[in-house]
Amino acid sequence: MINMQSKQRPIPLNQYLANVSALSYGCMGLGGDWDQNPVAPENIIQAHQVIETALQAGINLFDHADIYTLGKAEKAFGQVLTERPELREKMYIQSKCGIRFEDDAGPKRYDFSKQWVSASVDNILTRLNTEYIDTLILHRPDPLMELDEIADTLLQVKNSGKVRHFGVSNMHHHQMAYLQSALDAPLVANQIEISLAKLDWLEEGIMAGNPEGRDINFTAGKLEYCRQHNVQIQAWGSLAQGLFTGRDVTGESKAVQATCRLVSKLAEQYNVPTEAIVLAWLMRHPVRVQPVIGTTSLERIKACVQAEQVQLTREEWYQLYESARGHELP
Ligand SMILES: NC(=O)c1ccc[n+]([C@@H]2O[C@H](COP(=O)([O-])OP(=O)(O)OC[C@H]3O[C@@H](n4cnc5c(N)ncnc54)[C@H](OP(=O)(O)O)[C@@H]3O)[C@@H](O)[C@H]2O)c1
Repeated sequence: MINMQSKQRPIPLNQYLANVSALSYGCMGLGGDWDQNPVAPENIIQAHQVIETALQAGINLFDHADIYTLGKAEKAFGQVLTERPELREKMYIQSKCGIRFEDDAGPKRYDFSKQWVSASVDNILTRLNTEYIDTLILHRPDPLMELDEIADTLLQVKNSGKVRHFGVSNMHHHQMAYLQSALDAPLVANQIEISLAKLDWLEEGIMAGNPEGRDINFTAGKLEYCRQHNVQIQAWGSLAQGLFTGRDVTGESKAVQATCRLVSKLAEQYNVPTEAIVLAWLMRHPVRVQPVIGTTSLERIKACVQAEQVQLTREEWYQLYESARGHELP
């Protein structure tokens, strides 16, 4: 007899994923400019305010990378933890490594060598002033990655207690499966750029077999792989840098301008800020997208979390999709 019950595994199975908030706060805007100047006192004040606002609003996952403002984002954040150590246990922290900027040794490059990743983890912990990070994310795929070497490195940083979980960013699922094949610990996240302004994650499925879809730049099966393996899809650029939520759109396409109007209309209807609609649209997808919000505005942080109150109807979701893509679905 056929079992008609859904065989879909509930997400998230992983206890860590069950405890992190629906939204993540992206720390790329902290620490000041991308230069070698020291972190300024106003950057520390800003980090205090942002962290406090995010935690108060219910966001407990903070997203870093070793390169953000050349390490100053982590330093400013670490200074907050130095001044308020009690905050550490209220939050989950993830950081990324693997991108190296041009230097005397070579051009901009990616580096998953044992030496670079191990040193990066130590430097991340020092800057953040924490004994461990919850998740280490490999920032961008390194074509020269040696599977056994990276697996051994990740095992070591886990066994030493410096890192609890692992994730990836900007990878397709073949790369994830390859990496996972050598790891004992499950990959818990893949952070990719998806939003109302970056639609290829949906277009890939919709346009399967359609010649018009030949220029789509999203690997088929990535969403399904993440769903099946309980990998959290994290959306960077989820606010589309304000494109639909108040930025000046004079000179933008008709589709963008129409989508701004539709977002505003839905925001009024649901009695929430426009940011909440843009994020609720991402979160409505069954893969359960976790938006990483990069705003440094305290008001916008509070606006973003209101996305959790909005459950868009199928019709509203498709209206937004059609409006953002600029024409009817095939
Ligand atoms: N894995 C990766 O490769 C990768 C790449 C990039 C970023 N990230 C992560 O993702 C996070 C978010 O990415 P993101 O910052 O590119 O995207 P985002 O969250 O879509 O955009 C945030 C940026 O848009 C601005 N913005 C938002 N609403 C606005 C409005 N109405 N008017 C004017 N400006 C507005 C913000 O300025 P205000 O601060 O003034 O609000 C901020 O500069 C980053 O912090 C980082 O943690 C990851």
